[in-house]
Amino acid sequence: MNEETIKLLEKRRSLRSFSDAPIEKEVLDKMKRLTLRAPSAGNMNMFSIVEVTDPAIKKELSVLCDNQLMIAKAPGVWVFVADMERWYNWMKKGGSEERIGKPVRQPGIGDFHLCMQDAIITAHNAVIAAEALGMGSCYIGDVIENYEKMQKLLNLPSLAAPAAMIIFGYPKAEATAPMTLRPEPEYFFMENGYRVQTPEECLKMYEKHEDSYRARGVLPNNNTGTYADYYFNRKYSSEFMDEMNRSAEVFIRRWCEEEKK
Ligand SMILES: Cc1cc2nc3c(=O)[nH]c(=O)nc-3n(C[C@H](O)[C@H](O)[C@H](O)COP(=O)(O)O)c2cc1C
Repeated sequence: MNEETIKLLEKRRSLRSFSDAPIEKEVLDKMKRLTLRAPSAGNMNMFSIVEVTDPAIKKELSVLCDNQLMIAKAPGVWVFVADMERWYNWMKKGGSEERIGKPVRQPGIGDFHLCMQDAIITAHNAVIAAEALGMGSCYIGDVIENYEKMQKLLNLPSLAAPAAMIIFGYPKAEATAPMTLRPEPEYFFMENGYRVQTPEECLKMYEKHEDSYRARGVLPNNNTGTYADYYFNRKYSSEFMDEMNRSAEVFIRRWCEEEKK
């Protein structure tokens, strides 16, 4: 048993406030190598990582990602891209069609999904690597918003779609807030097949979350609402979720439909 790894997984938490200390080159190089040890479908590594070092681009990203200013202040900013561009061009322009004797088809939604899996799994290796190197990190889900502007800012071709983003660096101070809660494993692990859960089960599943939100006085309807009401009101029906859905539809359509030269 590797106790250190177990401890690392138990203690990982999102970090949103970073020390000004720069990340040393050797540490960053190590993090890159560890990141790339992630498993990858067919070992084709269908992702790229845009490493944002330009403060002006970090600032712009922070605006595009729902005005999260911590992005502009983060020492490390990596955007993980689901990348079929590299392989598609290599196969198409590198002569594979002629040598193999069949056309290179337009990438489809299955390719998209596989590239996404590669990119996101790699992103999480980066999160764990950062942790092991004494840093902390936070995912930024809003990277899939504002696709047209994001695409221009990061120079993304149609077959390189935003998949995930992490910001990382050394912690400013020792974390004091309690760890975030998780429901018990029995609610997520469904033996030998899916089991639909009733609202009553969900209430039980998220009982502790609800208690802690109630204690903070943040549930809707004068604090009488459920945790589902909170999620529905603050996230699911928010403008940023509408924008995420619009933006993701644009990049998925472009991926599948755009005629390649
Ligand atoms: C896909 C994804 C997107 C996320 N996006 C954001 C974000 O935009 N801003 C943010 O502050 N945290 C973001 N987070 C961090 C979550 O809020 C955090 O993981 C969750 O509250 C659990 O906290 P913990 O990571 O400290 O355990 C994101 C996490 C994931 C996995």
